[in-house]
Amino acid sequence: MLVRQTTRLLRKAGLLQPVPRPPPQPPLVIEATEPPAPRKPVTTPDGRYHIDAAMKTVLHARGFDATWSSDGGVLPQDSVFEPPCSVQRLEIFGRIAMGSFSYGVSGYCNNVTIGRYVSIGDDVQMGKGDHSIAWLSTSPFFYLHETILPVGQDFAGAEAYHAFRPDTSGAAGFVQGSTIVIENDVWIGHRAYLRPGVTIGTGAIIGAYAVVTRDVPPYAVVVGNPGRVVRYRFDEALIARLLASKWWTLAPWQLHGIDLSRPAQSIDALERRVAEAEPYRPGFIRLADLIEGGPA
Ligand SMILES: CC(C)(COP(=O)(O)OP(=O)(O)OC[C@H]1O[C@@H](n2cnc3c(N)ncnc32)[C@H](O)[C@@H]1OP(=O)(O)O)[C@@H](O)C(=O)NCCC(=O)NCCS
Repeated sequence: MLVRQTTRLLRKAGLLQPVPRPPPQPPLVIEATEPPAPRKPVTTPDGRYHIDAAMKTVLHARGFDATWSSDGGVLPQDSVFEPPCSVQRLEIFGRIAMGSFSYGVSGYCNNVTIGRYVSIGDDVQMGKGDHSIAWLSTSPFFYLHETILPVGQDFAGAEAYHAFRPDTSGAAGFVQGSTIVIENDVWIGHRAYLRPGVTIGTGAIIGAYAVVTRDVPPYAVVVGNPGRVVRYRFDEALIARLLASKWWTLAPWQLHGIDLSRPAQSIDALERRVAEAEPYRPGFIRLADLIEGGPA
């Protein structure tokens, strides 16, 4: 009441001017910016790189694709990709090298070298390592020096559990296994499982749910558990000519006009085309070079 009366008196005396309204503000404009430059990424505890949105943009522009969530994915530091290629939803652990026109849909990949024109289906498991089978126990509780089960504190022995580290050193109880080599034009079906160290020859097909424990010869069709060769895609003479031609050194557009649906009839034309054309050499995307700002 007193405030209102005082205000009225002051206005009458001309001592109180109405406060001018602020001029209307222009709407907030967010300017389009250049994609951020690649920067040193966060390294995961096992030495892989966390690929953030900025690095993903750089890789994508250079011909590498991955369908990761918006906060990015993880790649080993020594990853090498020959564009264009895509790992879509493959979870990648140890080193990966992937050639042009190859893709994986989903699954697990550990120490795998992949040639060109390789098609990897859904949920394919490649290079899973082994727990030691010669130790007292196969359990990682006896060799891993990190918290295995990320649980809380409210259970018997919790304090000892969180403080415990095994006597044995590092991951010595885990057997990584050697590199899987997948040559060119291989098709790997849904949910196939590849043991570490196997080589899948050019042109081979691995059937759905196959368990591959041995090397697969070029152009073989392998099915079942354990994987067995049920047939070869072509006769011996054609396989020899296809392998000698190295047709996968060319890009798809360089094979234009050749009837690829009838390889036995087209092999002469294919050989001539490979002899005449320049191999497609797009160069390699080496993740470590990109990150350190060196030549790509
Ligand atoms: C392997 C495959 C390509 C067929 O090859 P194919 O040479 O035409 O094989 P056939 O159908 O003639 O079958 C040959 C034999 O293998 C068996 N076989 C075929 N596919 C099999 C499989 N995935 N697992 C177990 N056995 C299989 C057949 O029963 C047959 O056995 P038999 O000789 O004792 O009767 C096909 O079965 C397959 O697995 N495709 C993968 C499909 C897929 O994963 N698609 C995802 C899209 S990327």
